[in-house]
Amino acid sequence: MTRPAISLRDVHLHLGSGRARVHVLRGITLDVDAGESVAILGPSGSGKSSLLMAMAGLEPAGSGAIEVAGTPIGSLDEDALARFRGAHAGIVFQSFHLIATMTALENVAIPLELGARAGDPWQRARAELEAVGLGARTGHYPAELSGGEQQRVALARALVTRPDILFADEPTGNLDGTTGEQVIELIFAAHRERAATLVLVTHDEALARRCSRVVRMADGMIVSDEPTPGPRRRKAAK
Ligand SMILES: Nc1ncnc2c1ncn2[C@@H]1O[C@H](COP(=O)(O)OP(=O)(O)OP(=O)(O)O)[C@@H](O)[C@H]1O
Ligand SMILES: [Mg+2]
Repeated sequence: MTRPAISLRDVHLHLGSGRARVHVLRGITLDVDAGESVAILGPSGSGKSSLLMAMAGLEPAGSGAIEVAGTPIGSLDEDALARFRGAHAGIVFQSFHLIATMTALENVAIPLELGARAGDPWQRARAELEAVGLGARTGHYPAELSGGEQQRVALARALVTRPDILFADEPTGNLDGTTGEQVIELIFAAHRERAATLVLVTHDEALARRCSRVVRMADGMIVSDEPTPGPRRRKAAK
């Protein structure tokens, strides 16, 4: 029996202070196997992004236990968390989060600065941009790229460290249908071809059904957790 890639036990998270304090995650228990693809659905404000942030070590949980890739991330300090993310997690956000003063190539190379890695970082960053179809845009700044191109740069940045888990928070929320579909295809290709575990937050039921499992949230809690029927269902071998 292998350990799950992600394991949460009774995780609680509060955000804000004073009257703005919100009990955002209210007892989340969840296991995600290596190579699985999990969609997280739920109404706005139900805690989907917060759950993703907690799993990716971007938001420390108030209580409960979170283990990701065999690491209990609750016990890590900021530096160790950054190293943990560099080694295991690729993260894609709805609003790209690229650094405006850096070119596409520089943005993609950023995660490679953390820790020694094999190979030339610029070559790896360039290869990752080519893989998302942006080999001709390496010298462009984010403002010189379309929304879909910016999101593909963000995806290349998330994948350049060869993460075993890819976290995506409404990665197509700011893109039109066709452009969004291209980004989704690239995300699922990364999931399949690299056997990366995928956790995908979305409002799109059809997109969610492409994952092997759908977890629904409401009011900071998981209200259902079911495998997806149908041919798209897959659980990649690791
Ligand atoms: N810094 C904060 N301080 C106080 N409350 C917060 C903070 N950040 C988020 N919240 C609250 O936490 C709840 C969950 O937010 P979260 O962003 O996780 O929701 P979501 O499910 O991702 O919603 P959406 O679909 O709109 O992105 C919301 O009610 C929100 O108002
Ligand atoms: Mg959100």
